[in-house]
Order: sequence, then C-alpha cells, then structure tokens
Amino acid sequence: MANATLRSDDALVHLTFADGSSAGFPYIWLRDNDPAGFHPQTQERITDLTAIPLDVTPSKIETDDATLTIWWQGDNAVTSFDLSWLRAHCPGQYAADPARTGFTHWRKDLGAEGIPHATADAVLNSDQALQDWLVQTQTFGLSIVGGLADSTEAGMEVARRIGFLRETNFGLTFEVQSKPNPNNLAYTPIALPLHTDLTNQELPPGFQFLHCLANEAMGGGSLFCDGYAIAEDLRSADPEAFTLLSTVSIPFRFHDQDTDIRNRKKVINLDETGEIIEICFNAHLADILDLAPDLMARYYRAYRQFMIMTRSAEYLVTLKLKGGEMVVFDNRRVLHGRQAFDPQTGFRHLHGCYVDRGEFESRLRLLAR
Ligand code: OGA
Ligand code: ZN
Repeated sequence: MANATLRSDDALVHLTFADGSSAGFPYIWLRDNDPAGFHPQTQERITDLTAIPLDVTPSKIETDDATLTIWWQGDNAVTSFDLSWLRAHCPGQYAADPARTGFTHWRKDLGAEGIPHATADAVLNSDQALQDWLVQTQTFGLSIVGGLADSTEAGMEVARRIGFLRETNFGLTFEVQSKPNPNNLAYTPIALPLHTDLTNQELPPGFQFLHCLANEAMGGGSLFCDGYAIAEDLRSADPEAFTLLSTVSIPFRFHDQDTDIRNRKKVINLDETGEIIEICFNAHLADILDLAPDLMARYYRAYRQFMIMTRSAEYLVTLKLKGGEMVVFDNRRVLHGRQAFDPQTGFRHLHGCYVDRGEFESRLRLLAR
C-alpha cells in the first residue's frame, strides 16, 4: 500500500511506494503531466502549461493500491495517476530507455576476432537476430555483417532493416572507389588516417555502413579505433587537453563545385553529466583554425595529442574486408581509416550509406517492446 503526503513547504507530493521506495513529485509537474492532458490517439501532450498557475496546489490527495488521486484548488479539477507510472517516472532519475544498452570501450586487445559478427540472412529474416546485432553494434560501436549478396542493393537492404537512410551531398549511398576527378580523398587510392565522416555537417551521420563488393587490390586494409576509449584515456592522462577538446569548437568545411557545407564542432562532446557522447575528428575536413593566438598554441597541443593517440597501436584494430562483408560502425564514436591500395593490382569497391542514431535507437526500442 502506498502512502502519500502533501508537503506545502516545498510544493510536492511525497509518495512512499509499496516496495518501500519513495520520491517527491512537484505539484506543477503533477498538473502538467495529468494523463487526461494527452491526446488519446497520438499520445502527444495537449495540456497548455501557460494555463496552469505556477503555484498550482492540491486541496486533497488520496491513494489506494493502484492510484493516486489529486483534487486541485481553484478549478476543482481531479487528476488520477497509476502508481506504477509514477514509480517509473520519479523526478530526478532518468526514465529507463531500452535504446541505451551501455557502451563497452575497447582497445587493441579487442582484435579483429573480437568484433561482433552477424549474417545478412539472419538480420533480414529474424527480429531477434536484428535486435541482437543492434545491441552489439551499439555496445561496441562496431560490427561486421557477412554473407551479403554481390549487389549494391544488399547493404542498403540490411541498413533499411533499421530505418531511413541518411542522404548527404555524396548521395543517398556512395561508391568508394578510385575515380577520375575525385571530390573526396576516399575516392582516391591514398591512405586515410583514422577519422569520422562529415564533421562539416550540422549533424554528422550516425551509423555508417561500408559494404565491400571487391577488395582485390594490394593494400586497402581497414583501420578502426574506439574514440570513446581514446577520449577517456586522454581525460585521465592529460586533463587540460581533454578540457580544451571538449569545450572549444573548431570549424570544419567541405566544398566542391556544388556545395560549401560548414559547421563548428568540438572534437569531444559531453552530456551534462560529463559522459562522452560524440567524437568529431577529421583532419582533412578541419578548416583554417580561427582561435585567438594564445588559445591556438594550447589548442594545437591538445588536438595534436589526440591525433597522436589515434595513430597509436594501443587502440588499433585492423582487418581486410572481403567481398560480401559489410562493416557497420557508429560514425560519431568509432574512427575509421584505410591503408593505401594500388588500383593497378586489382579492383576495390565499397558501397556506403548512413543511418542516423535516432533511427537506430527507435528500432532498438521497438524491438524491445
Ligand atoms: C570513407 C572511408 C574507407 C575505405 O569512404 O569515408 O573512409 O576503406 N572509406 O575506403
Ligand atoms: Zn570515412
């Protein structure tokens, strides 16, 4: 049996639940979240907060086994809450989210063998296999899907099991091949040091899919490192560098004949609790740094230190993708790169696309229902 008391000094209802736990629910919050204030079909909020006085106060409350009922002063409105709903929404604690599966930071000891694997057939035909694969891909920020058909559609079909593809100035999908007149270093045979893609975009794409159709040239191996692990190690080893990279934004730019897309980003992005939530690192797309001279010197030291860490074998996992394999990674966490290849010695062709984090997390929540 729950027990509820009115605490007028701090304007909250204090509830002790049957399991012994307790929490305080501010009056204004209770009135704003009246279940009757949500549209019955769309579940969207229709309450008008501005119509509720900030000092709204109950005149009476009652609890039974399942419900808290509140009578409000002023307009005699009555609100009923399920206690189980209140228990799941105690103010001061984030509501459980099935899309937050936790993150396992990894370093070189993960090894190519340690990268989570799935097969296209299972992911396409089983929701359970899809869920298992997405959880692993979020946990490590990296996975490999094998057994794809030899067609550019095959990778897109797997990506679309998650959600909409994210279109960019390089198209809905893109062909990573050595091309005449390239507008992107990826479309040359040169080495690409570890980076995240499209840091010049307002929102850099979330998950990246690189489906290998052919990798027969000499060279062309893939490199990966966990940007979260590097940033966490930098936080302990060099707090000043960490603070600069997580507070100072720098300009990024991509421009060609058709576009000029610019954005400022911090290399390390934190949430309000200090947890690392995004890495944005691309030396090719960094624009001319425009920081004040004294900050510039300190920033260069920090930025270069992060770059040195991305080159360190400590964090590196390498592999050579084979035709029919697709690597999938969180482009806002895991840095990717490739070794140079020699187009004279064989054909190399990856077909790429992106799905943003929002679609990915939505699919995880639906699969967890
Ligand atoms: C890219 C890229 C890696 C590769 O297209 O963004 O980094 O293996 N490609 O070619
Ligand atoms: Zn890239």
